[in-house]
Parts: sequence; C-alpha cells; structure tokens
Amino acid sequence: MKYNWLNSFFCLVFLGFMTSCGENTFKQGEMLYKTQCANCHMLDGQGLQSLIPPLAGFKFYPENRAQIACIITNGFKDTIRYNDRIYTEPMEAIPNLTEAEITNIINYINHAWGNDFGYVKISDVEDALNDCK
Ligand code: HEC
Repeated sequence: MKYNWLNSFFCLVFLGFMTSCGENTFKQGEMLYKTQCANCHMLDGQGLQSLIPPLAGFKFYPENRAQIACIITNGFKDTIRYNDRIYTEPMEAIPNLTEAEITNIINYINHAWGNDFGYVKISDVEDALNDCK
C-alpha cells in the first residue's frame, strides 16, 4: 500500500493522544477535509478561480502550520495574493471542530497534493488557539 510508511509515521507522531493508531488520523483528516473544506477549496486543493485560494502549495505560516487552526476556528478575512490572483472573499469560521480533528485536518493538508510541510502536534494546535482566542 502506498501510504503504509506514512501511516507508520503518523502512528509514531500521534501515539499518546489518539486511542487507535495506524491510518486513522490521516483518514480522519482527509474525511474532514472532504466534508468541511472541499466544497470551497476543492478536493484537489486548487481552490476556485479568484474566489477561493488554493491550499495545494500554500506556504502560509511555514514556521508554524498549527496557526492554520486559527483560520479554521475564527474564520479569515484578508487580501491574499497568490499566483497573480487576488482573493478578498472572507472565509467563515468553522467553530465546532475539536483540537484533535483540527490537527488531523492540518496534517492532511500538509501532505496532500504534493505538499510537504511536516507534522503538527495537538499541543501545537492548542497553543496556537490559545494565542488567537
Ligand atoms: C465557504 C467556503 C470555505 C470553506 C468551507 C473553507 N474555506 Fe478556507 N478559505 C475560504 C476563502 C474565501 C478564503 C480566503 C479568505 C481571505 O481572502 O481573506 C479561505 C482561506 C483559507 C486559508 C488561508 C489561505 C491563504 O493563502 O492565506 C486556509 C489555510 C484555509 N482557508 C483553510 C481551510 C480549511 C482547512 C477549511 C476546512 C476546515 C476551509 N478553509 C474551509 C473559503 C472557505
């Protein structure tokens, strides 16, 4: 299976806060992405024309990807310039996700579509959320 090594890695990274291990965290991140984000950012992470910015190749917060948690829980309103396009539509807050779910979504985004942005821990997400309440 293509993702076996990745699953093993997730298993090590997430051991300690997930009750079950293996493919669950990545699968949950993917599933949540599909239900919570893909209707705007699209399944392939390419966004939608000049309305929704892409998440594939998205380099925001390269030092601390956990801060994406704040975009998810608080929403986001800014002028984003990316690949010659300007995005001004605000993103609505999605406040009902748990910290574990947010962690899994971020780790999914970090590794989907050729992205390679490392892994965030649930404690990183908690810290980021405390700072942006
Ligand atoms: C209803 C549509 C919609 C949904 C659903 C949505 N987004 Fe967004 N998202 C946007 C828009 C529009 C922007 C641009 C906001 C701006 O320009 O200020 C954005 C911006 C972002 C950004 C910042 C991108 C950048 O280049 O700065 C991230 C990260 C992001 N969204 C992640 C997510 C995640 C993760 C989810 C699911 C949990 C999600 N979004 C769900 C519409 C959406």
